[in-house]
Order: sequence, then C-alpha cells, then structure tokens
Amino acid sequence: MHNKLLEKLNNLTVEEKIGQLVQLTGDFFEGDLDTVVTGPLKKLGLHPNYNVYNTGSILNVTDADKIIRLQTDYLEKSNHKIPLLFMADIIYGFRTIFPIPLAQTCSWNFEAIEQAASISARECYDEGIHVTFSPMVDVVRDPRWGRVMESPGEDTLLAKKYAESMVYGIQGQEAESIPTDKIAACVKHFAAYGAPIAGREYNAVDMSEHMLREYYLPGYQAAIDAGAKLVMTAFNTLNGIPATGNEWLNRDLLREEMKFDGVLISDYAAVEELIMHGYAENATEAAKLGLAAGIDIDMKTAVYANQLKNVISGNEHLEQLLNDAVYRVLKLKSDLGLFEDPFRGLKTRQEQATRILSDAHKKAAQSLAEESIVLLKNEKNLLPLSKQTKIALIGPYSEENSTLGMWAIKGDEADTVNLKTGLLKHMGAEQLSVCRGSYLIPDHAREALGKYVDKLPVETGSEEALLQEAIQNAKEADVVILALGESIYQSGEGGSRTNPTLPEPQLKLLRELKQLGKQLVVIVYSGRPLILTEVTEQSDALIQAWYPGTMGGDALANILYGVVNPSGKLAMTFPRSVGQIPVYYNELSTGRPDLPENGSYRFATRYIDEVNKPLYPFGYGKSYSTFDCSLVSVSREEMGTEESVDIEVSVSNTGKFDGKETIQLYMRDRFASVTRPVKMLTDFRQIFLQSGETGTVQFSIREEMLRFVGSHMKYQSEPGDFDVYIGTSSQDTPLTFSFSFHREEQL
Ligand code: NOJ
Repeated sequence: MHNKLLEKLNNLTVEEKIGQLVQLTGDFFEGDLDTVVTGPLKKLGLHPNYNVYNTGSILNVTDADKIIRLQTDYLEKSNHKIPLLFMADIIYGFRTIFPIPLAQTCSWNFEAIEQAASISARECYDEGIHVTFSPMVDVVRDPRWGRVMESPGEDTLLAKKYAESMVYGIQGQEAESIPTDKIAACVKHFAAYGAPIAGREYNAVDMSEHMLREYYLPGYQAAIDAGAKLVMTAFNTLNGIPATGNEWLNRDLLREEMKFDGVLISDYAAVEELIMHGYAENATEAAKLGLAAGIDIDMKTAVYANQLKNVISGNEHLEQLLNDAVYRVLKLKSDLGLFEDPFRGLKTRQEQATRILSDAHKKAAQSLAEESIVLLKNEKNLLPLSKQTKIALIGPYSEENSTLGMWAIKGDEADTVNLKTGLLKHMGAEQLSVCRGSYLIPDHAREALGKYVDKLPVETGSEEALLQEAIQNAKEADVVILALGESIYQSGEGGSRTNPTLPEPQLKLLRELKQLGKQLVVIVYSGRPLILTEVTEQSDALIQAWYPGTMGGDALANILYGVVNPSGKLAMTFPRSVGQIPVYYNELSTGRPDLPENGSYRFATRYIDEVNKPLYPFGYGKSYSTFDCSLVSVSREEMGTEESVDIEVSVSNTGKFDGKETIQLYMRDRFASVTRPVKMLTDFRQIFLQSGETGTVQFSIREEMLRFVGSHMKYQSEPGDFDVYIGTSSQDTPLTFSFSFHREEQL
C-alpha cells in the first residue's frame, strides 16, 4: 500500500469514504443546492443530507467544458480536494466511430483493433474522460440477444485477443500509471452476461462451472492480465445468484484466483436491483451484500450513499472492506495522475481540432471497416463492379447516416459517410439512381422501440409508391445494390429479438426486385447475425456490413469497386433458422453424431425439419480471389511437454486480385477426461498475397495450447491423440493430420 494514499484515506470521515464509492451523473452538481436536493437527489432517493461534494465519480459526462466546470466546482467545494473521476461508455470510438465490436473482431486483425482503441482513448483523453467502460468481452452464442453487437462473438480465443488488444490500446502497457494519451479500461460484464436464457436481455444465466471456466472466463482473464484497471459486474444472476451480490464470483474467483486488484464497479443500478432479484430484502441488505461481494463503486443508486454507514457501524470486518474499497478508488485516481493534475488531458477546442476526428483517425476507421465487412456470397463473380455499370441503389440504407450503432454516444451522424456518398466517389452521378424502396421497419415494430421511435427516420410516401419507384429504377439499371438492415435501435442493450430477420417491408422489396431478373447485390447493415436464409437465396452477391462506423460508406464503396478486396471472417455463426439457435462451431461431441453416411437415420443428434449446419459458419468469409493451401511440413507425430509440433503451410493466391487470407488452425482432442469440442480454434495467421503469389505461414503447437478445464476445474493438458484441421473457415479445413502428445515420464 502506498503511504500517501493511506494518509489520504485515514483523513476521511466515514461519510467521505462512502462518497468515494458513489457514482452519480452530472446533473447532481448543476444548479443550486436546493434544486439538486429537490431534483436529482430526490429522484434517486438520496438522503437530503447527502453531500454531493463527497461523491467519487461521475457517469457519462463527455463534454470537456462540462468536465472542467464540474471538476473546478468540486475542487472548490469538497473538503479534501480529491478529484472526481469521469467515466463514460466510449465503446468503439469517441467522435471517430469505428465499426461495432462484433464487426471489428471479424477483421481478425488485432493490431488494427488495438490501434482503434488507442485512437478512441486519445480522443477521450483530450476531452478529459478518465475511464471507459470498455472492453465488453462477453462471449455470446445467441444472436437474439441485442448486445451481440458489443461482443467479440462466440469464440474464446478471439475474445482473449480482443480483450488484450483493447486494454493495451486504451491503457497502454505500462504496469501501474496510465500514460499520456491513455485512459483506464473497464472490462465487463463479470460474468457471463452474454448467455442470458433465450437471448432475452437481463435474463438469468445458468451454466455449469465447467462451461464458465472453459469458454467464458478466459476473455475477462486476458483483460485482467493485460492490466485492466476496472471490472464491471453483470446484471444477471449466475446459477441463481445475482453476479453483483456474488461473493464467490467477485472475491474468490475474480480477486483471489484471477488476481484482479483494481476497482470493481457495479453495472447501472445493479446493487439496488439485488432487491428486485429477490436476493436482498431491502436497501440495507443490498448495501451489505454489495460490499461483502466486493463492489467498490455503486453506479447510480442511493444504496451505498444512504445505507453503508449503518451497515458497517460496529462491524470491523465490513469497516475494513470499506477501507479497502476506498483505497482502490484512490489508487485508481493516483494511477491516472489526477492528484497531480485533476484536469489531465483536457485540450481546448482549438487544440482538439487537429486531434479529434483527424484525417489519420478517419483513415484508421475506414481501414478497419474495410477489414470488418464480410463478403458472404458472390455468384459468378458479380463483384467487384465495373465503373461502367449502371447502378440502381435501393433500400432504406442507401443514404442513411444512422449507421453508427447504439453505443456511439459521441458519434455524429453528420460526420458519417453514407453508402451513396461513398459510391459517388467511384462513378458519375448519371450512372446512379437512388431511392428508398421500402420503410425501414413496419409500424408495429416502431412502437416496440419505445423512446427511440423519435429517432427513427420519418417515412414519407406510401409503401406502394416507394416500391413502384424502386421497380422503375431497377428496370433501368444493370445491377441493383439493395442496402437493407435492421434499425440500430433494434439491436444493442434492450434490443433482444425472437425473430432476428430483416424487417418485413424490406423482405417484400427484395422479393419484388428479384422477380425483375436483375442482378442483385444485397448489403446488410445489422448489429447481429440476422437469419439471412431467404436473402441468400434471392441475392447474387451478399455483403455483411454490420454498423461500419463513420467511414462506412467509403469502405463499402471501395469493396464494391474492388479497390479493396474483402477479407473479413465471421466471428459468429449465422444460423439458418431461429430454431437452430444457439448454434456455434465449437459444440461438444455427442454420443450420436449426425454422420453424412447415415442419411436421415433418426436416432442421431439432428432435427427432422432442419439440417444441423448453419447458413454461414464461424470463420467464413469470401474474397474476390481464391486461395489454395497445402501442408508443406509437420515437424513431428509425437510431441512431449517441452516439444512443439511445427507446421508450415503454403498459401497461393490463385485468383486475379491481390488479397488477404486468414489461415485458421483448429484442433480436436480425441479422448479426454471431459468431452471436448468437435473443433476448437487454436491459432490463426493472416497473409497478404498478390495475385499469383505463393507464401507460407507457420504454426507451432505447444503443450499449453492443449490445455482445457478438466473435470476438477483445473486447467490442464492430457496425453493422447489430437486431430488438427487447417483451412479458411471452421467448415472448410482441407488440411488435416494428427499427432499424439505424451508426458516424458510416461516413456
Ligand atoms: C449499462 C450497461 O450494461 C453497461 O454496459 C454500461 O457501461 C452502463 N450501463 C453505464 O452506462
């Protein structure tokens, strides 16, 4: 412990200590005290005597002027002048918005993801923000859940890599203090928030400890190992106990086992929600359970502020827990250098002009968008388009700037390049007709969006008139580009859907245009894998654009015209139908596999009305080129604990376009003390090759890559046989071989 911080801690009264653990929004500090007491304080249920100038941190104030105002006022009026911490949800960009996280992971380019995170952090730093509630590393297998957009997808290795690169990008790699241009990272949501039953937001999570440890925890662990200063708890119950009040989860597992020693913050109001969960009887008990579970900061409730004093009174153990929690908050402030400079990072608007949303930042956003977009289908090499082709651009996303996704709180649609603007950089206006074609979503779906209805585009004209205009435009064009998608408000937090398809008016438009016999390029904007089975059938080319960020229109246009060769690979499986959900590539072996040679044999793990295979598998994504792979060498068939199996793969670009391919290595542990998945992504390499060029990639399998969580919950490897599959998606792995692993002492 640092003596200076201990001294600060010891100087605080109990009320002042508790204040450090309270997080409020900015409105608690604006206006005179009377209005604060009768307004925000009253609304939250804070005791009228609560001194807001004891508060330790502020949520989602993201404006430099306001931050300066609040900090100045606070330092003037608070007793000990311990600076406020400003925390905000800057998830995939501050002003320069990058593609949504699920899209970013589809780049499989973790250096680029780190760079994006460092740009976001730098823009936050300049604005005076100290902590971002990012990365979210919740592994997710169910696209009905709206927050898949914020997740790294279904795979544990990708989640680990995403976690690490995000933390390095946001915080840097220095051990303790956070350097210039960096801010603190908060990994969330601990734990397993990505697995709510039936994909319904905030629903219970019920999973075995084995599943938790093997697939869900490694992402959080990677962020902690990379130095994440904060962790946020999850809203959900985990195996019957709310994560926010779960002592085993947050103390035994997170702090003791996973070695997290930073600040643990609750999710929004989650401490108070312990009551609604039926876990705490009242606010006093919620405070006690929260503190006992190790929650350092109570986000936006009155529970700690009103209750903690009584709760700890006369209880030395709880008093000690309070001191520990406050110490960690002070330590974070010290690591950020706030005691030396409470206005760290803040730049004048003039200084910001060359730093925020700079050309370099936009370039990085565009390049990551280009790598995140996934080409799903390209019949008869319809794409890339030639500059001479006459295009009808149709659909609600043709000229739409509302493509940043739900968490771009500082993103400005006015900065956004839409598809039409992007296309016009490649062609003359006379070659392009543009129309909306259909409503974005049907009226009944609008109503379901509640307060977001007002943010949706106003539809003008009847659906029939829009359709007729689209048909007319399509008839006059050589190729139709159909820009479709779910509304950004249909995904994100609170955006669970039972039937995640394209909205019905858009499907109708697609069907009508298909009948014209024109070549159809469909571009899908979405925050999740939608069910695209019909869309695939009706389209000649299909592009998954996700929500591609500020530079999305330029990125897509570059892909459509072949300036960029698509290289994105799905980080999440696309189901064929809702009934298949959850469907993911690394499922466990069963006793009755569905073998092709058994035809429609009934008593196998299968459906009688649907195939098991998804529409598009994990790791899948097409290029304008073709790549051939062959095994050059495998160093050994038997591997000991200190040895490695070294593999060389030759990759040839046999197509006409230069491009990047991602070579994926999967493994299967044939027999183990717990059943292992049919395939697990173990490593991958990206290689850029010019047309006609051949190159090689190397892999090296070592003992630690064979480890898994055994039946006694310990991470271990076991001797035995392993099958290796190498290829360009989880279902396309033509290179296979096997090796056996032994421990030296066995020989
Ligand atoms: C609720 C969300 O679950 C969390 O991810 C976010 O950081 C907080 N609200 C703060 O806005």
